[in-house]
Amino acid sequence: MNALHRDLARLVAEAERQGLARAEQDPYRLRFHLMPPVGWMNDPNGLCRCGDWYHVFYQYGPFDSTGGVKHWGHYRSRDLVQWEQLPPLLYPDQTWDLHGVYSGSALVEDGVMYLYYTGNVKHPGDFDYVTEGRGHNTALAVCRDGVTAQSNELLLENRDYPAGLTCHVRDPKVFAYDGAYYMVQGARTLENRGELLVFESRDKRHWTHINTITTPDAFGYMWECPDLFELNGQWVAVCSPQGVEHGRDTFQNVYSCGYFPLDGDFRSAYTLGAYREMDTGFDFYAPQTFLDGERRLLIGWMGMPDAPYENLTVAYGWQHAMTVPCRCDWQNGRMLRYPAAELQTLRRGPVEAGDAAVFDLELTDCAKGGLVIRDSAVLEWGQGEMTLSFTGGGAGRTVRHAKVGEVCALRILADTSSLEIFVNHGESVLTTRYYPRPDARGVRLTGKGEVRLWEMGSLTIKR
Ligand code: FRU
Repeated sequence: MNALHRDLARLVAEAERQGLARAEQDPYRLRFHLMPPVGWMNDPNGLCRCGDWYHVFYQYGPFDSTGGVKHWGHYRSRDLVQWEQLPPLLYPDQTWDLHGVYSGSALVEDGVMYLYYTGNVKHPGDFDYVTEGRGHNTALAVCRDGVTAQSNELLLENRDYPAGLTCHVRDPKVFAYDGAYYMVQGARTLENRGELLVFESRDKRHWTHINTITTPDAFGYMWECPDLFELNGQWVAVCSPQGVEHGRDTFQNVYSCGYFPLDGDFRSAYTLGAYREMDTGFDFYAPQTFLDGERRLLIGWMGMPDAPYENLTVAYGWQHAMTVPCRCDWQNGRMLRYPAAELQTLRRGPVEAGDAAVFDLELTDCAKGGLVIRDSAVLEWGQGEMTLSFTGGGAGRTVRHAKVGEVCALRILADTSSLEIFVNHGESVLTTRYYPRPDARGVRLTGKGEVRLWEMGSLTIKR
């Protein structure tokens, strides 16, 4: 631990001590989602299960609710419901990560977390910071006690990446497979194409670029936050592409987030199937998955970079949250995503729909219909489409369209200022923040359907 680390740790603790009471007075503070104690949160990082503990790290800007220099904030839990807030595990305290400890992942082996991340460096000068002036370094921190890093080392610099790339190479996702280790990173080429770089290693430290995964025609200029895994026998490449052209019911957000089915071998000859967006709400980006025994869990960032809409929580000194943990499955050529069973332990009731504010709702027998939630969010569906809009409280959010099959089942997780809408057991998902009047209550059904609804309790967070 160096002097800069000690100073930053003290400053973060002080910012949290001063800001937490104010954040907790916010009527829009969430109940069953992980949020930054103070300041800013973006991507989930280093998600893993290590022994009895689930670890959630995240991009954390403790000094500025609109961003700032990134740390790795840290929560852990044994059951995904009772959480413990720990001090950030990574600080921007090395020469290779001075301007932000950017996104990355965890490899768990023998009870040790190997945390791979991107160290962001902005060199002073008159640079565009895309083709020059920026260092995106790949680094490894090793954590043996679940709480602090015992070592931190630089593994790769820009000059170690393949030729033809801009400075933008980041967000290593590392996994063990077939007797070796693999790392995928998101990259932007000099021709402004998004790609995934595949690296291989035998010792977790020395990495060789062995393949590049991309589409035959350019699909956006940068692919952020990649993930690559096998799901019920199908390989899936996840990424968050930037620069894809917007349509009426596709790519409606400033940046997209989705997946390609990958056939063949990701290390050599492969083909990518059609890209599918993972979420058609306003606030979902940069998800990460990890294996928990037999199931693959996913947590996304419930936010959107550079969005034209706002979050009213900034008035209370904090912004953004994680989605609930979801289980992923592959079925009929697509990835399904559905809340982890643990969430149901927070259900209270059932209660009357007219009293609802923070709830878990199930609707069946509902092929065509609509819902109005807390006089604010309007959901309508039928004829192959679902529409989400707001009569108030959208804070700049307008309308989102989702192509859906016949709607047989809806599940909605509604927190004080968020909605996660799961259509047909997770075939389509719409995630959004919203800001209804704090006293507004009730879910009104404007079509047919059988509603069951439970009030949701809160996560416990020990600090
Ligand atoms: C995605 C992202 C990542 C980067 C991180 C920085 O939201 O831009 O590519 O590592 O956020 O906070």
